[in-house]
Amino acid sequence: MSATPASRVAVPIELGDRSYDILIGTGLLDDPKSFDGLPAAACAAIVTNPTIAPLYAARLQTALGARYARVLVIELPDGEAHKDWTSLNTVFDALLAAGCDRKTILFALGGGVVGDIAGFAAACYMRGVPFVQVPTTLLAQVDSSVGGKTAINHPLGKNMIGAFYQPLRVVADLATLDTLPVREVSAGLAEIIKYGPIADSEFLDWLGTNLDALRARDKTALAHAVRRSCEIKAWVVGQDERESGLRAILNFGHTFAHAIESGLGYGEWLHGEAVGCGMVMAADLSARMGLIDPSLVDRLVRLIERAGLPIVGPKLGVPRYLELMRLDKKTESGEIRFVLLDGPGHEVMRAAPQALVAQVIDARTA
Ligand code: NAD
Ligand code: GLY
Repeated sequence: MSATPASRVAVPIELGDRSYDILIGTGLLDDPKSFDGLPAAACAAIVTNPTIAPLYAARLQTALGARYARVLVIELPDGEAHKDWTSLNTVFDALLAAGCDRKTILFALGGGVVGDIAGFAAACYMRGVPFVQVPTTLLAQVDSSVGGKTAINHPLGKNMIGAFYQPLRVVADLATLDTLPVREVSAGLAEIIKYGPIADSEFLDWLGTNLDALRARDKTALAHAVRRSCEIKAWVVGQDERESGLRAILNFGHTFAHAIESGLGYGEWLHGEAVGCGMVMAADLSARMGLIDPSLVDRLVRLIERAGLPIVGPKLGVPRYLELMRLDKKTESGEIRFVLLDGPGHEVMRAAPQALVAQVIDARTA
């Protein structure tokens, strides 16, 4: 058990009968109260991986033991390269072999890879069982555990096979971030920085002042950053759960990022690293289209660099970038569409002249 009592805030996400709370605090993982009110079930299953399991699975299992008679632990191989059919099937195999019925509740304990696979497994197993996100990376606490996007990758494109499926709750224990590798903290900062330019210029200012505290894992700074990120994401998802419009703003930088990830091979760059660099490229494209002043690009580049993230993309070549970006889910009738800035805290989604996209790729890759 954790030595200190749990402290928490709850950020609600309003989705009618699929509404839920994002609990944010320290000591939540060990506290059975974090799981109060979840449905009864004969079987609960923690989906995790061999890196996270030795750190946190037994503690979560004990907390859940107060509620569930049987708590299985299912381990998937670690890494983006394993966000695939084989891992998904591993979850189904384990649940079926253990005789888990349609009331089984899944707990995704880990980063975005575990969360995306476990959520998709929950959406499919016996046509849908409840699940809870217990994110343990900064990136997962501020983004992937919230909003119900679940998926696996396909060799031809990232997150191409999946479903919208909301968790019943998100339990984000900030204390789990103490064991996160430095590179993963930076990756999480990319998705936090994203919320500034797309939605909240005051938050962008706050990040400029508090970035070093966040990198040092100061709990007060982390609590504010995770909470504000979740509030913004909850506000967006509450209006456009299935991305018919507004939700696309959460993909700022992601069109370039997904090309980098699949172009280099999944796992070569971390998702957050690709997003950081993708934001540099998308901001540069916005400036070249005359939508923002170049000073905003410089400001973002400095912040992304200070977060410990790459600001220069890999040299895949213009034709390869274009080919990969055409596979993006925002592409319509073969036309690549980008989330672009048109001022601090404002964005638009539209196609861009190919010559300008090529200029950005030439200028921002090496
Ligand atoms: P990840 O899940 O690969 O986790 C990063 C690494 O940290 C892994 O090796 C993991 O085992 C390890 N780890 C996790 N928690 C730890 C801890 N507390 N201590 C020590 N090690 C720990 O990567 P990620 O950045 O969390 O997630 C990236 C994935 O999330 C990508 O697949 C991306 O597509 C997806 N994503 C999904 C959404 C969504 O809305 N569903 C949003 C953003 C990103
Ligand atoms: N991370 C993008 C989204 O949730 O829509």
